[in-house]
Amino acid sequence: MLPRLLAFLLCSWVAFGEQTLDPATIGRFIFTDTSLSNPPGQSCLTCHNPNHAFADPRRVSPGATPTLKGTRNAPSLMYAALIPPFAYEDLLLPDGTEIFAWEGGLFHDGRAKDLFDQVDQPFFETHEMNLKGKADLAARLRKSTYLKLFPKHLVGDDEKLTYQAFRALVEFLKSPSFRPFDSPYDRHQTGDKKALSLSQKRGLKIYKTTAGCADCHFLEPQNWEQPLLSDFGYDNLGAPAIGKKDPGLNAVTKDPEDLGKFRAPSLRNVALTAPYLHNGSIATLREVLEFYNKRDLEPERWGVTNYPETVNHDDLGNLGLTDDEITDLLNFLHAFSDDCLKNKKNTFPSPPKNTPSTESLKLFFPDYTHRQDPEFPEKKN
Ligand code: HEC
Ligand code: HEC
Repeated sequence: MLPRLLAFLLCSWVAFGEQTLDPATIGRFIFTDTSLSNPPGQSCLTCHNPNHAFADPRRVSPGATPTLKGTRNAPSLMYAALIPPFAYEDLLLPDGTEIFAWEGGLFHDGRAKDLFDQVDQPFFETHEMNLKGKADLAARLRKSTYLKLFPKHLVGDDEKLTYQAFRALVEFLKSPSFRPFDSPYDRHQTGDKKALSLSQKRGLKIYKTTAGCADCHFLEPQNWEQPLLSDFGYDNLGAPAIGKKDPGLNAVTKDPEDLGKFRAPSLRNVALTAPYLHNGSIATLREVLEFYNKRDLEPERWGVTNYPETVNHDDLGNLGLTDDEITDLLNFLHAFSDDCLKNKKNTFPSPPKNTPSTESLKLFFPDYTHRQDPEFPEKKN
């Protein structure tokens, strides 16, 4: 039985007589390969740590050249493949007025239109993996142990080989491990009355009502069958200034109204991804809630912010929550942690067995719905 199963698995991977594995498996090799940086030693995994839901527990991450550092906190990669593409959306407010607003995109400022636009960038940033260009990356891929898994006719060409590598990373980040929907909140959504504690149930109510969190970190499904806990809109929360001044969305749109605005992240696994905000300026989740609650009442506690003129004072800064309500809200945020990420050390998460395959969901992924890959090099052959 076992040999037959193995033979079946092998056959389904071997295409056209070449030993071509599915792209997600190649992507996983690339994700952990520390020879793809200059000097060698850094991989995607170095800054996207599986023990922290693939975020970085350091405020900012040192690059392969440790003296060079970025200015932003590395976000979680869980559910990143489900973030909608960067777009100027036409929205209808509850009172009937029509507004336009930026939504989606990858990186804190949305400068990568989608995941495919994002995955090549870390290789070539001097403060990250610091490679010289595609020829440099291709040369390193050709020395890798997994080169044999790429389609043979593409490996000689720098453009085609690196294109395959980027597609493989995207497929890896789309795989079930990164979208398990395996949290107490998900079980609560499907009717399990015991999934949340009493305190968490009170927290859920506060989240939806007095605290107004659900206005931006949506609890209902939007662009995916399950809720992603974000509207993927942009806002300036007035984050405490630290390090270099960061214009955020304004760097992309050049609109002065967008100074200091950053994309609202998904709150899935947020209890595992300290420190918080785009610049990692707030160390703990309780402090984030205290910031939302009393930012405008305790200016001396939070210090200066870089772009006071665009700070949102309507939705946060003085929520009037008591300490007990903050505790309930905090406990509720822990209900967004996927079970398969808890107590796992240095391994990729094992999602629940019934998590749908990427193939079965392909029509729903943002990269399928908006990117038709006209330049896919393999097709030109
Ligand atoms: C040196 C640390 C570092 C390395 C190495 C690194 N990243 Fe990142 N990553 C970051 C930081 C910091 C950000 C946020 C940057 C920003 O918003 O400008 C980020 C953002 C991202 C995002 C966007 C997530 C979102 O919510 O917008 C993705 C996806 C990502 N990285 C994937 C990768 C992949 C794939 C690799 C390997 C090819 C990689 N990263 C290597 C630090 C790193
Ligand atoms: C007006 C929209 C809006 C509302 C309302 C809102 N948020 Fe946010 N939230 C954001 C944006 C935008 C960011 C990213 C800000 C940044 O990085 O500077 C964010 C970031 C966060 C973060 C940091 C996540 C991380 O990984 O760094 C947490 C935690 C959070 N919000 C929780 C909440 C809670 C809890 C509430 C209700 C008390 C709430 N938010 C209400 C828009 C909102």
